[in-house]
Amino acid sequence: MDWDTDFDRIDLQAPPPESEPQRQYYYITKCRRYAEEKSRELGRPLRFCTTTFGCQMNARDSEKLTGILKQIGYVPAGEEDADFVIYNTCTVRENANLKVYGRLGALNNRKKKNPHMLIALCGCMMQEPQVVEKIRTSYRFVDLIFGTHNIYKFAELLAKRLSQDTMVIDIWEKTDQIVENLPVERKYAFKSGVNIMFGCDNFCSYCIVPYVRGRERSREPEEIIREIERLVADGVVEVMLLGQNVNSYGKNLAHPISFAKLLQRIEKIDGLLRIRFMTSHPKDLSDELIEVMANSDKICRHLHLPLQSGSSRILKAMNRRYSKEQYLALVERLRAKIPDISLTTDIIVGFPGETEEDFEETLDVVKKAHYDSAFTFIYSKRTGTPAARMENQILPEVVKERFDRLLELVQHTSAQTAGRLEGQTLPVLVEEVNRQDPKLLTGRLSNNLLVHFPGDASLIGTIVPVCLSESKGFYYLGEKRE
Ligand code: SAH
Ligand code: SF4
Ligand code: F3S
Repeated sequence: MDWDTDFDRIDLQAPPPESEPQRQYYYITKCRRYAEEKSRELGRPLRFCTTTFGCQMNARDSEKLTGILKQIGYVPAGEEDADFVIYNTCTVRENANLKVYGRLGALNNRKKKNPHMLIALCGCMMQEPQVVEKIRTSYRFVDLIFGTHNIYKFAELLAKRLSQDTMVIDIWEKTDQIVENLPVERKYAFKSGVNIMFGCDNFCSYCIVPYVRGRERSREPEEIIREIERLVADGVVEVMLLGQNVNSYGKNLAHPISFAKLLQRIEKIDGLLRIRFMTSHPKDLSDELIEVMANSDKICRHLHLPLQSGSSRILKAMNRRYSKEQYLALVERLRAKIPDISLTTDIIVGFPGETEEDFEETLDVVKKAHYDSAFTFIYSKRTGTPAARMENQILPEVVKERFDRLLELVQHTSAQTAGRLEGQTLPVLVEEVNRQDPKLLTGRLSNNLLVHFPGDASLIGTIVPVCLSESKGFYYLGEKRE
């Protein structure tokens, strides 16, 4: 791999290089010296723990942080035992945000007992100036704060913190940079997330993501292919292509390319068996993509297609740029071309101005779209978004009542839909030993549903045929076939 640089040969007497990623390699080496010294002192390696809040983008970012920390010489541990605790935060809804403050309080007590402990905060919440101000003034024991745009500078910022006594804060409002070839460590040996783009330009009126993740930037297709080829050479058989709106991938590149074309190029990689992606914005889902999916053996039979609301009026206020009818027509086109596709979705209840009639439109779409599962969210007011300034915010008790009704419908309809494959034998990628019952393995169908079946851990990372003997609503119990 490109980042298999010989860090020990980097000359720390020389000034740090200006260009990336060489500059970060230099700082990784610098932090290594600290880690070596400190672990000699403690008589054990330094330990770290990264806690990820939020979506798969953040999960992938945490893998990048882990990659850098491992190169520095840290070993993974539980939060209780960690010398370095990192919270990679999310701010998409207020409760994601509150959790972080809650846990920081407890960390402070531990740090008082272990003064050498380091605490870093990063991720989407840190892109909000009022959050950083609050931490700077009320959580002074935090060592390092950085944001979503400069995560690649982690080693440099850590080195800075180690050379001074005060908190390091480095937040960029925006960036047009994409730094390639930094260390990254994945959670599973056989599957990996791969960023294909960063940021979002859609500005759905309730959503804070465009403000904290910045403008849409696509990676060059060659860089993506190269990363996947390396992953495959390293044992990966499934990739999840990540972006807030993968369907608009490539539009702003110097040589524009569509997402469907990118998929066709990725499909050609030998040894790669499965391709997933998320998230698809319904407004940009092209017929070209449906065609490519329908004709592919590798692209998984699953599409996460966030609905948000079933009311065309509310969709307009949300700035989603599709109507109820357009959404349902898209579902129909998908089912006609890819009959075995599974659809999942996200729904928000209680957007400002949502009436009982609007809400019933949402229930109607849920009944018609036959989702395998749906993530349901109570609308959360995010400061700085247009929806936060809208009048007629809905009373919490009304929202709660609607939310419960939606949840009941979703549970009922998705159990029915997800159970439709009972009795069939289908390929399953074995992911892990079942966490509750070690005699069972847990694997995933192409359509993303989980299957538990008796088997040996040596099968992890392989694709095996499994008969789906019994549907449990959201998962199956099965038996391996030869
Ligand atoms: N880019 C993805 C979604 C990213 S956020 C997309 O466009 O679908 C994940 C989900 O969080 C969204 O689909 C939405 O359902 C939910 N969400 C975003 N902002 C929210 C808010 N202010 N209140 C409640 N749910 C929200
Ligand atoms: Fe948020 Fe909309 Fe962008 Fe998704 S597409 S991240 S919901 S603004
Ligand atoms: Fe949260 Fe940021 Fe993802 S706000 S949902 S972690 S892009």
